[in-house]
Amino acid sequence: MFSFSFFSLETWTLLISFISIFVLYGYWSFGVFEKLGIPGPKPLMYFGTIGRYNNVYYLDDMECAKKYGRVWGMYELRKSVLAVMDPDMLKTILVKECFTYFTNRRSLILNGDLYDALVFSEDDHWRRIRHLVSPSFTSGRIKEMFSLMKHNSHKLTENLRSKAHGGEVIAIKDFFAGYTIDVLGSCAFSVDLDTINKPANPLITHAEKMFKISVPLFLLQGCFPFLSPVLDLLGFSFFPKSTTDYFKTLVEKIRAERSDSSKQNFSDFLHSFTSSQTGSKENPNKGLTDHEVISTVTMFVFAGFETSANTLVFLAYSLARNPEVMKHLQREIDLTFPNKAPVQYEALMQMDYLSSVVDECLRLYPTIPRLDRVAKETVKINGITIPKGMAIMVPVYALHYDPELWPQPEEFKPERFSKENKQKINPYTYLPFGMGPRNCLGMRFALAMIKLALVEVLQNYSFSVCEETEIPLKMDPSGLVGPLKPIKLKLMMRSMDDAEVGKGN
Ligand code: HEM
Repeated sequence: MFSFSFFSLETWTLLISFISIFVLYGYWSFGVFEKLGIPGPKPLMYFGTIGRYNNVYYLDDMECAKKYGRVWGMYELRKSVLAVMDPDMLKTILVKECFTYFTNRRSLILNGDLYDALVFSEDDHWRRIRHLVSPSFTSGRIKEMFSLMKHNSHKLTENLRSKAHGGEVIAIKDFFAGYTIDVLGSCAFSVDLDTINKPANPLITHAEKMFKISVPLFLLQGCFPFLSPVLDLLGFSFFPKSTTDYFKTLVEKIRAERSDSSKQNFSDFLHSFTSSQTGSKENPNKGLTDHEVISTVTMFVFAGFETSANTLVFLAYSLARNPEVMKHLQREIDLTFPNKAPVQYEALMQMDYLSSVVDECLRLYPTIPRLDRVAKETVKINGITIPKGMAIMVPVYALHYDPELWPQPEEFKPERFSKENKQKINPYTYLPFGMGPRNCLGMRFALAMIKLALVEVLQNYSFSVCEETEIPLKMDPSGLVGPLKPIKLKLMMRSMDDAEVGKGN
């Protein structure tokens, strides 16, 4: 029989106190939204409201939006987070009050060696870096990099030829991931990686590793945030040290080679950051420091890789499932670049239907499904008090599936973004690249890279669904918006007749 004398009275007292504190601490932060009168799912001890309705976090947001409307309160582990998808409030948070109250994203502290990357930087530090790197993303600069992109899109198209000849079923991401990392490698540091032909490239392995956040570390810092500075000091980071070290060594090696070489004219990001670099730690206001150059270049690969590769995958999937849209797009491509003429930057960026197809794909699959900001001060917006330090989460995925804003939201309808319909769209209801001063810096670059690959591939091939294509898709619960299993499609050569039809229209 169980005996209480097994432990002494002191031990029992300690044990009961410990359990009580543990339980109290697990619930302690959960009254915030009740006090503010904001609805939301009921939190569970320590876990908060994570995955209450769906284990895929952005599908969970959709369920919450259905139940609680366009503003609700949730708890990410013990952290209170205000979800906002009301377009008027979004305008205030993302644009009007960006500089006063909502300049920064949430700080997770454990950013390791990427502590000074643009994405994580705050206030004046962010303003300074954004100001310094923005000139690398003007249309003029992207046009200069277009030939680097084209070099890689040709390789992609050639690589797909044997697959299309045999009408093979392919895991489409293998090809688009190779293309994306090759473009980023050449535009970031003029390195011709040729991943498309030699897939075992360490850069792609490291770029993929960046998004694999350690779950135990996430739970530890989320449940016991006061431990974060200690974990940081001990060298724990969400970004694997082997990966940040790899990028650091790569950038340093390239810089050393360049300083020894007579060739000094490169059209890549690294060159534009270093050539404007006149600052140092002691005099940081002038240019990027050496460390900031490394973090910024690394971050570009990180920010641009999975987002762009997944968008291309979802484009292929959506077109394969909607062959009439694909034919319409191929007609526009054939008219713009007759007889498979080389793709030109200006003409590409002016293709209306292509633009509608890409926009609609990013509505259905916004690869970054949530935005986040943090309130610097207590502020009242639309009658809702947002306390200082409160994290704001914008559920972009749920916003893009709101049936009042997007009728039949599950359907792929590029005409929603036709020239005349686009003017009627409230910009705060469509946020695949975020919004305001803190929006995606690489948007124009990403669109050029994505459109180029899509056009060149569709000049030559068509996609179709096959037995191996999963419909509907099961989504990956972790990381960015992506399928749980690789998407498989059939690739076919475009027939001559098909191309002729294009010419006649
Ligand atoms: C389809 C591709 C892409 C998508 C959907 C995408 C989406 C986003 C989103 C939603 C944000 C957050 C915006 C906000 O908080 O308002 C963001 C930030 C950012 N993105 Fe992208 N992105 C893409 C490609 C790229 C590429 C190719 C690069 C760089 C080469 C890039 C660089 C950045 C940077 C640096 C930020 C942080 C900006 C800042 O904090 O000031 N992105 N992106």
